[in-house]
Amino acid sequence: MRLEGSQPGLLKGPVLPRSRILGSGSYAPVRAMSNAELEAIVDTSDDWITTRTGIRRRHVAAEGENSSDLAAAAGRRALQAAGLNVADLDMIVVGTVTPDSPMPACAAHVQRKLGADDIPAFDIAAACAGFVYGLSIGDQFIATGAARCVMVIGVELLSRKMNWQDRTTCVLFGDGAGAVILGPASWPVARSLDGAPIERAYRDPERPAGILSTVMYTDGSLAGALQIPAGGTAEPPSAAAVAEKRDKVHMVGQDVFKTAVRNLTSSSSQALKAAGLTSKDLDWVVAHQANIRIINQVAQRLGFPLDKFVINIDEYGNTSSASIPIALDEAIRDGRIKPGNTVLMCALGAGISWGAALARM
Ligand code: ACO
Repeated sequence: MRLEGSQPGLLKGPVLPRSRILGSGSYAPVRAMSNAELEAIVDTSDDWITTRTGIRRRHVAAEGENSSDLAAAAGRRALQAAGLNVADLDMIVVGTVTPDSPMPACAAHVQRKLGADDIPAFDIAAACAGFVYGLSIGDQFIATGAARCVMVIGVELLSRKMNWQDRTTCVLFGDGAGAVILGPASWPVARSLDGAPIERAYRDPERPAGILSTVMYTDGSLAGALQIPAGGTAEPPSAAAVAEKRDKVHMVGQDVFKTAVRNLTSSSSQALKAAGLTSKDLDWVVAHQANIRIINQVAQRLGFPLDKFVINIDEYGNTSSASIPIALDEAIRDGRIKPGNTVLMCALGAGISWGAALARM
């Protein structure tokens, strides 16, 4: 296990962040699919889905709308919120397990659609943990000075990876994208759309704004709990694989549930410790939106009130790597998350991969 940032117990003062979130954006396809619509497709009920998961709707991409379209839309909104232009970007990191095609990276299409320069653009395949992994990677590049301005996106188009006859999975997932722009923590201002400087800095030397810590983990022994078995090199695409729906998401739900509660809690605690903080120092938690019961149990274990968790699973379902940046963006835009707030993000998904990131806004 490796921790980034200062070692717990050795902190002499506040953690000095290297990068900070300058702006956020999100995008969900227009079409919302209700639980009632699913009742007509599989043997399920609105009552079962809402009680067991908290999901009421999920958004589904239109024909011809691809992951890179969703990602580029979210990315443009994040740039706008940061008061920056596409030419300011040094790197694009896309967390996704549903790229437009197996090759090239979804990020390459996003780069082209945004009209960015020939900057590095690559994907992170950490499923629901993809955005937290992306934040950590962007933070590291900015910390070393190798990049100044990094776009981190989580995008997923899982509706095309569902077996719509399998009620144990198809009711859970949705499509969407969220993005943030990371820049050096020392950047005090950003431009507004009309070019005027906006004061963005939260100026408190004792509580500096920025990414305070990130932790990432993977336990490959649990790879079989959540997977798309066919379509890669182990089981290349075939008519049989398609007929048996082995090119769609398979999940052992209860195994993932228990692991999620345990690991979201432990990684959150590690991220807090690495920054020398406790849950009492938090203003908001943006946890991966997989199941309201998972979020509830994590809240209890962290000893942090559920009403300080940003929750939008009712509207989007599980959008995997997009779930944290969508929820974060909504809470920033509606004023729940304010400058100076300390926000914990935590996610777990296929791999099993999980992690947490702590940021002061
Ligand atoms: N409608 C009605 N009944 C259903 C449905 C449905 N949609 N799905 C399952 N059931 C039935 C089952 O068949 C079972 O029936 P039985 O008792 O007759 O056998 C019963 O409901 C209970 O099933 P469980 O699987 O025990 O239900 P559970 O309470 O565990 O909830 C769920 C299932 C929602 C999948 C839960 O286990 C879960 O949320 N797991 C974690 C998901 C997650 O976190 N994924 C990680 C991220 S995803 C990513 O990385 C891409």
